[in-house]
Amino acid sequence: MCLLVAWRAPVAAQVTPPSAAEVARGRYMFGATGGCGCHTPPKGQPNAGGRRYDGPYGTVFSSNITPDRQTGVGGWTDEQIITAIRLGRRPNGERLLPVHPYPVFNGMAEEDLRAIVAFLRTTSPVTKANQPKKLIPMFESVFLPAWLAAFAPRETPPPKAPTAGVPRGEYLIRAVAHCGECHTPRTMTMATDNSRFLAGNPKGPEDQAMPNITPDPETGIGKWSVEEIADYLGSGNKPDGDVAGGLMGEVIEGTLAGYKDLTPADRTAIAQYLKTIPPIRNKIGKPVK
Ligand code: HEC
Repeated sequence: MCLLVAWRAPVAAQVTPPSAAEVARGRYMFGATGGCGCHTPPKGQPNAGGRRYDGPYGTVFSSNITPDRQTGVGGWTDEQIITAIRLGRRPNGERLLPVHPYPVFNGMAEEDLRAIVAFLRTTSPVTKANQPKKLIPMFESVFLPAWLAAFAPRETPPPKAPTAGVPRGEYLIRAVAHCGECHTPRTMTMATDNSRFLAGNPKGPEDQAMPNITPDPETGIGKWSVEEIADYLGSGNKPDGDVAGGLMGEVIEGTLAGYKDLTPADRTAIAQYLKTIPPIRNKIGKPVK
């Protein structure tokens, strides 16, 4: 009897499946990024990738981030998925282009990243091979590492995600919702110019005009109240009766979740933080729709 007990195989390290609460938190944070919509081509299958991005680097296509084992990230460990999200490295060591905004997502709290991964594993797998990127010579080996080291502003993760008020709004804006990737002007090197954080870009991602959302009363959104900003993030309705279009419409609507699914408290926190950033005068023309 004793022998039998002694011979019992060591219990395999138990992988506890994530709780329903963790998956829900992951879906919520996924929505707070705008639904990772770059990974979903318009009218395409959620997270299956293939959306095309052209830039000075050449052409890349977003990756399949569904849990398909062959063509998606289903065969990756949690750690590998987190490393790709925040450090821009694939399991084989290959660098991702910062079209996937890892210098921003690096500021996400560990617990939020883990929850996002738990949620991603619950989504429908789609078998769809990634399209190879076409980069200008030496971009990946020489320019990208130098650029990352010299120019890319990198967010620092907090030990725990702030839960309320202006710090919560700042965290969501800077590290999760990546508002700056679209709304912050860029320097000559194409890095975001955070000395003019959220001051708008006449020709932002996908060549769309990105409004100035600093509190400047004339060229920004200084005349919008906190409630109006919070409403807009939930509904897309502007104070003047217009509705959000283009990429803003996409991040509000999201894919499997979006900004519209943020709680009123989080939308208010975002609006409150926006009121605290320096107003910057920068007139951006009306977007062409
Ligand atoms: C993927 C790009 C993208 C991201 C990310 C993004 N926006 Fe926008 N945003 C836009 C575009 C494009 C418009 C213009 C939409 C239109 O004209 O209807 C816009 C419009 C706005 C407006 C209306 C401004 C005006 O003057 O009409 C506000 C406010 C705003 N965004 C806030 C935010 C906040 C806050 C975040 C982050 C929580 C954010 N945006 C993230 C692309 C983006």
